Amino acid sequence: MSGGDGETSYAKNSAIQSGVQSRLKPLVEGAISDLCGGTAVPRCLRVADLGCSSGPNALALVSAAVDAVRRQPSVVAERRCREVCVYLNDLPGNDFNTVVKDVPSFLREHENVESGGGGGDGGPLVMVFGAPGSFYGRLFPAETLHLVCSSFSLHWLSQVPQELVDGVLVNKGSVSAGRTSAPAVAPAVQPTPSALRDTL
Ligand SMILES: C[S@@+](CC[C@H](N)C(=O)[O-])C[C@H]1O[C@@H](n2cnc3c(N)ncnc32)[C@H](O)[C@@H]1O
Repeated sequence: MSGGDGETSYAKNSAIQSGVQSRLKPLVEGAISDLCGGTAVPRCLRVADLGCSSGPNALALVSAAVDAVRRQPSVVAERRCREVCVYLNDLPGNDFNTVVKDVPSFLREHENVESGGGGGDGGPLVMVFGAPGSFYGRLFPAETLHLVCSSFSLHWLSQVPQELVDGVLVNKGSVSAGRTSAPAVAPAVQPTPSALRDTL
């Protein structure tokens, strides 16, 4: 993706993706309700975005997650989830500098005390970490994350699926999977649960 915030940057040319992210927010909120609504509320909730890119979309889904945590009755009344760790993943060539510049306003929005002294308004302390690397490999220690978000990334392949290069080229002449693709294409580009388990 094109970094920075100039006219041709991803930051300035990702409005359609932003619209789709808005439609995903209820799913994120539902997942947070499931995580924080039961008896075993994590004291430190760990949330990741895989393929965050840069610009406003990089923090949009994790922001929805943090907002949802802060609205949970178990968090507001019982102060059970005290920390939220946000992990932003993308390939090492991503413009993480631009992402990091947006972190202070993200933390302010979530009422954090930037000195790290705790959630400024009594809410959980929010911390943001970069996690550069490919989601085709291992990015996090096993069983670390509670919620993983990803938008417009899992299909944005940084390598051709093995199934499409072994033997016959089933998607020859095309760089995408669509209605007119050969039947073998869609399963090859969709991550299987076991592939995701290997990453997470
Ligand atoms: C179209 S952007 C999506 C950005 C943002 N999530 C959004 O919805 O607007 C796709 C991002 O996925 C990243 N990406 C592609 N393959 C990846 C991989 N194997 N591991 C990590 N990130 C990857 C790209 O570098 C790019 O920043």
